[in-house]
Amino acid sequence: MTYRNDPYDPKQAALLDPAALAAAVRDARAAFAAAANPDELTALRHQYLGDRAPVSLARREIGTLPPAAKADAGKRVNEARREIEADFADRRAELDRAEAERVLVAERVDVTLPYDRRPPGARHPLTVLMDQMADLFVGMGYEIAEGPEVELEWANFDALNIPPDHPARGLMDTFHIAGRDGAADAGLVLRTHTSSVQVRTMLTRQPPIYIVCPGRVYRTDELDATHSPVFHQIEGLVVDRGITMAHLRGTLEHFARTMFGAAARVRWRPHYFPFTEPSAEFDVWFPEHRDGPRWVEWGGCGMVNPRVLRACGIDPEVHSGFAFGMGVDRTLMLRHGISEIRDLFEGDVRFSRALGAES
Ligand code: PHE
Repeated sequence: MTYRNDPYDPKQAALLDPAALAAAVRDARAAFAAAANPDELTALRHQYLGDRAPVSLARREIGTLPPAAKADAGKRVNEARREIEADFADRRAELDRAEAERVLVAERVDVTLPYDRRPPGARHPLTVLMDQMADLFVGMGYEIAEGPEVELEWANFDALNIPPDHPARGLMDTFHIAGRDGAADAGLVLRTHTSSVQVRTMLTRQPPIYIVCPGRVYRTDELDATHSPVFHQIEGLVVDRGITMAHLRGTLEHFARTMFGAAARVRWRPHYFPFTEPSAEFDVWFPEHRDGPRWVEWGGCGMVNPRVLRACGIDPEVHSGFAFGMGVDRTLMLRHGISEIRDLFEGDVRFSRALGAES
């Protein structure tokens, strides 16, 4: 048998020294213990167990030993390596446990904490009601018409048979728009009713016309519990062949029952409007009024005055029509027993949330 004649050089095999191996194990353990988290520990693996780690270099040195010494040295190296592997695994388990615990604490959700998200908004109750009213008429084949709030005096008054010297102009307390040059009157007003939209519609199309005009209107009323300088109306206009007061009556009855329930009834009182002839004011029977069952004034109506039809280019010999208008704010207050009109405009979200959330 021949043996490789490697000279045994104790210096070359320094890493195989039991003390050196013990030091390698100690160093590794200390380094693993110093790792603060699983990532830091992983980063140390190469240094203490990789190709260039002391225990790996030591294994390579085994080849330099005389055969008789190899088995013993090999056992020591393997033992050292196993220890380092075991330390690594222990530390890993320890750090994983700690990390899991840290996450549990850091990411804990206390479901008993007060709710702090922004509450969902609600549409304003007036908007909701105007939409409901308009929907009812859309269901009967009407269209929705809109117009400007800053309106031509002509469309707000003249075309509706209210000439400048007509006493009815004085009855509606009107906001006039001042001219740019300081002139007191620019021929513009804040519309006092949505009847101006009816005028604009009749000017642009021929019958049959079935429209409702919901919108904001203005009058110089002092703000008090039941009056506001800005409020809302919905008006209806029908112009067609053979339209009679019976159509108007049936339409208003249906409207009232939809708004106030099957028991609702409508009562007419003779009245005067320049733009309708004959004209009436109408009340609705309201059994659930907070002060007890009663008739409540609801709006105005009548057959469109032939002068208005003519002013808008429609031949009253061929077509006739009816019109009606009522306050939306008043309807909302009635339906919900609200006594202060100011509640409608102050923007308190408690009000909108209570009445404006749609089902
Ligand atoms: N425009 C009237 C008002 O604001 C209401 C009305 C409309 C009356 C249509 C009759 C016909 O008071």
